[in-house]
Formats: sequence, C-alpha cells, structure tokens
Amino acid sequence: MPINIAKIRQHTPACSEMIHFNNAGASLSPLPVHQRLLQHLALEQHMGGYEAAAQEAAAVENFYNAFARLLHCHPSEIAYAESATHAWGAAFHAIALQPGQRILTGQSEYSSNYLAFLQMARLKDLRIDVIPNDANGRICLDRLEAAIGDDVGLIALTHVPSQSGVIHPAAEVGKLARAHGILYLLDACQSAGQIDLDVAALGCDMLSGTGRKYLRGPRGTGFLYVRREALPQLQPDRIDFHSARWMAENQFEFRDDARRFESWECSVAGKIALGTAADYATELGMHNIEHRVSELASTLREQLRKLPDIRVHEVGQSLSGIVTFSKNGEDADSLQRRLHKSGINSSVTRLSGNLLDLPRRGLGDINRASVHYFNTEDEIERFCQVLERT
Ligand SMILES: Cc1ncc(COP(=O)(O)O)c(C=O)c1O
Repeated sequence: MPINIAKIRQHTPACSEMIHFNNAGASLSPLPVHQRLLQHLALEQHMGGYEAAAQEAAAVENFYNAFARLLHCHPSEIAYAESATHAWGAAFHAIALQPGQRILTGQSEYSSNYLAFLQMARLKDLRIDVIPNDANGRICLDRLEAAIGDDVGLIALTHVPSQSGVIHPAAEVGKLARAHGILYLLDACQSAGQIDLDVAALGCDMLSGTGRKYLRGPRGTGFLYVRREALPQLQPDRIDFHSARWMAENQFEFRDDARRFESWECSVAGKIALGTAADYATELGMHNIEHRVSELASTLREQLRKLPDIRVHEVGQSLSGIVTFSKNGEDADSLQRRLHKSGINSSVTRLSGNLLDLPRRGLGDINRASVHYFNTEDEIERFCQVLERT
C-alpha cells in the first residue's frame, strides 16, 4: 500500500508551519515516536529510572527486534549507541589493524571517519588509500579492486555521503570485500531510513547509523550492526560489566553478541523511541519510503535545473533524497538564512568538513536540501519560488 501522505503529515505537526528540507541533518519525529520518548521520561520521573526500565523491559528489547526487522538480520547482531559516530568508532577501534596495513576508503568518506583513520595511521603506521569516484560520482569499483592486496586490513565506505546525493554501490563493494576476506565497515548514517537496507545483500561486516536523520528517531541515538561471524575478530576498546562478564578476579570475557559494543548506561527513553521509529519505517514499508524519497528528490533536481542561476551538483543516476546546489551570486550561508526567514529549513555543507570530496569536485561551501517522504511536490514548488527571488 502506498504511503498515506495526509496521515503521515498529521503525525508530523510542524509540516503545517514550515517546509523541512533538512532531513539529512535531523528529520522531524512522527508523533508516535515523540510520544513514546516522553512517555518513558515521564515514567522515569514517576517511579525511578531503574524501575521504569524494568517495567518497560519488553519495549527496550523491542529495539533489537525492530532493527533486526529493518536490516534483515538477527537481534543478537544489533547494538544501541548514542550516535552514528559512537557506533562507527566502536566498530572501527575494535579491529586489530597491524602496522603497515592499509585501509581502503572512498573520496566521499564521512569526515569523522577519515579523522579516525588519520589518527590510527599516526598511531599504528597505517596507510590510507582513498579510492576516487568515477564519472557518475560513485566509488570506482575497478580502482577499488586494483587497490586490494594482502596488506588491506579494512574497506570502509560511506553509503550515502552527507555532502552529495550519490548512493555508492555498497553491495558491489561488499562482494569484493567478501571475495578477498577483508573486513567491511559501512557507514549507513544517511541511508538508514531512506533506503531499504539488507545487510546480507550489502555484504558488510559492520554497519552504523544514527537515529535522528532519515529514521526520524530522537537526537542522541544510534545503532550498530555486527555480523555474527565477524564478532570473534572484533575486540571492543571499551569495557564495562554490561559488555563483558567478569568471571573471576583475573578473568573476563566479552559478551558473544553485538551488545559487547554497548555501554550499560544509555538513554532508555531514546532506545525505546528509536525502536519505535524503526518500526514506524518498517510499517510504512522501506520500499515505499525509498521510492517516494527518490521521486521527490528527482522532482526537486528537475525543478532546480530549470532555474537559470542554480547549479545542481549531483551527477549520475543513483541518487538519494539529498540534493546539493549553489546559486550564482549568493553565498551558501546567505541563501540558507534567506530560506530560513521564509520558513524553509535547509543546510550548508562546508568545505572545511569535506576536504577529500569537495575540492576534488571543484566545490566550496554548498547548499543542501534533503527531502523525506512526508514532503510534497507543493513544498518543492514553494522552495523553488523562494530560491528564484533575490
Ligand atoms: C555519512 C555520515 N556519517 C556519520 C555521521 C555522524 O552521525 P552522528 O552525528 O549521529 O554521530 C553523519 C552526520 O551527519 C553522516 O552524515
């Protein structure tokens, strides 16, 4: 069944007051997610945090089941995290990279991930090989394959970058990683919630994501998937009595599921509400969501290309809900401010945070509009009218 847009917009009251084209920044939570968050916070205040968590044990457990349904894996392969950065870092720092080894990544890799590579390269004498994009803006698979060798300890890819609407061929990268027995870490922060993700088809060993973006969950929440077979190779760099079992005075062992990457303390309300957000997406149907987001984004690009002063920066056909552009004669910040004054949320992607990708594409600071399924064609029209003004 297609998405009932009127009903979905009723679940998103702010839609009637503004145009939210900043879903890749932080989307708007639907009422059932928001109410679930507040409900648990109220329960904590009413009866005590530990007591509330015990009473809501089934809802807490639902987080794992909801993400297993969303990603098509087993609940024991899911961990909760405070953010995508924490989830990704927990996985990355658990890999036993050896001095002299190489990390293969793409030119669209997320800034914080690349900084972690730089830090680890300095500490462990690693090399980082950045595989360039092809003419369609996607990681060049031939160059990636040619770069693979016995000394590669990790392939890391950002599925959908924050600074461009491209969707990288994550499953094809997964095939190469599997064929060569190399660990594969996929950053799905911008794809989770807008693209139907099947971890088996993607072939990744680890996949990280956040709650607040396309999943429409609360801020300060995230998740990590770790393939069961990869777990024995991954030793978390943090430990507590939740992630490990203390067996004797001098003996411990990590949990044998993905929760070895969690900390005991977390926002229980956030975890429950993020599970609700994953269920909300699954109920709408990830296929429906993907289709609707892709159609809206291509309408937006089409409309933008008709405006004489606007340059759209995406190339190729494999594109997501993220649309990047610039306006001749108006800098990115001024344009964003002007849009905001007209009741439109958008964002600016900065050169300073994208030193791999934007210079290679000859770009500086650029504007970004990111649409979700609750946006409408009418909003796109109003957005273009404001853009046209000076
Ligand atoms: C591709 C990508 N990865 C990771 C992150 C980091 O997510 P978080 O802020 O939840 O740590 C972002 C945030 O914008 C992102 O766009």
